[in-house]
Amino acid sequence: MTTITARKNLENIHAYVAGKPIEEVQRELGLESIIKLASNENPYGYSTLVKEAMLSEMEQTHFYPEGMAPALAAKLAGKLGVERDQIIVGNGSDEIIRLLTRSYIEVKDEVIMPDVTFPRYETNTLIEGGTPVLVPLVDGVHDLKSMYNAITDRTKMIVVCNPNNPTGTIAKKAELIDFINKIPQHILLIIDEAYYEYVNDEEYLETIPFLETNPNLVILRTFSKIYGLASLRIGYGIMHPSIIEELIKVKDAFNTNRIGQAAALASLDDDGFVEYCAAENTKCRKYLENELTKMGLDYFPSHANFLMIKLKQHGKEIFDGLLKQGIIIRSGHLLGYDHTIRVSIGNQQENEKFIKALQNFIGSTHK
Ligand SMILES: Cc1ncc(COP(=O)(O)O)c(C=O)c1O
Repeated sequence: MTTITARKNLENIHAYVAGKPIEEVQRELGLESIIKLASNENPYGYSTLVKEAMLSEMEQTHFYPEGMAPALAAKLAGKLGVERDQIIVGNGSDEIIRLLTRSYIEVKDEVIMPDVTFPRYETNTLIEGGTPVLVPLVDGVHDLKSMYNAITDRTKMIVVCNPNNPTGTIAKKAELIDFINKIPQHILLIIDEAYYEYVNDEEYLETIPFLETNPNLVILRTFSKIYGLASLRIGYGIMHPSIIEELIKVKDAFNTNRIGQAAALASLDDDGFVEYCAAENTKCRKYLENELTKMGLDYFPSHANFLMIKLKQHGKEIFDGLLKQGIIIRSGHLLGYDHTIRVSIGNQQENEKFIKALQNFIGSTHK
């Protein structure tokens, strides 16, 4: 124990609690067969093009990577119809969130965000000494009107998570357009679209066209979800080049590694894989929704690769009950809703096992 005091800002910050890793559960419970439906990963792995690209890049491991991932940024720019200097690649979109708060948030600046949402927006705001302004969701959906009304002279940044993690809901198109256009241009508007590729709904807004008229807009996406590259840590932001110039000042020189860059680049050549995963996800989410409805359970209407399910029991109780059966999920008590669980949509076999385990657990608690 040392008596050296850390920065005061860290006093109220807790280390991020991630979904429990499979290896940890194997060690703790000695279970052989474990299903992880806790971190919204891709149950179908990654594109077949990725492995070869990784193996070939491995030969260059002794050379530092290119710090700005230029090949990947250029390919993304072409695909998205934006300029190369509008893209920054990060060590996961997590890093871009941190670069944004590092570059723009000073003590007393306010950051408006929904309550509940992905916790890194709040944590990174607190690290910089800023003030998170939490605006409750309504039925699991962003309350954009109240978020707009929360703007003060101190507001520096607003975060919209679309689809929202952990509820999976999306903002209504017309409301979001109105919101984007209303936000004063001296406030950064971050729209986190980590689950963009999963959404198949007319109400989902394509935000990229708004970059032209709204230079305060920042869009975040990732290779961790539908592209299945979570462990390689590649995410990206699309924004005005002048914002990127600031982020580069606080970015580590070699923030992403060669193998991750090569894998992400290769995976952009496989639209078929992305389409397959999105279609399977929708099919499997419908299966889960049907089964839950048959069990008399309610859930938030998700557009992503996870479902937040409402139950009578405390989330931790269900988490423990399912863990004993070899299934790792997330307890909602860590995500802002005590009597819920968040389950990632697995493949069909995993989903069937999850439903069976949930039925077992609920059955056993009624005895
Ligand atoms: C909404 C949202 N944003 C960002 C991230 C971070 O993703 P990554 O850093 O792996 O790109 C996640 C991960 O779960 C997320 O759910």
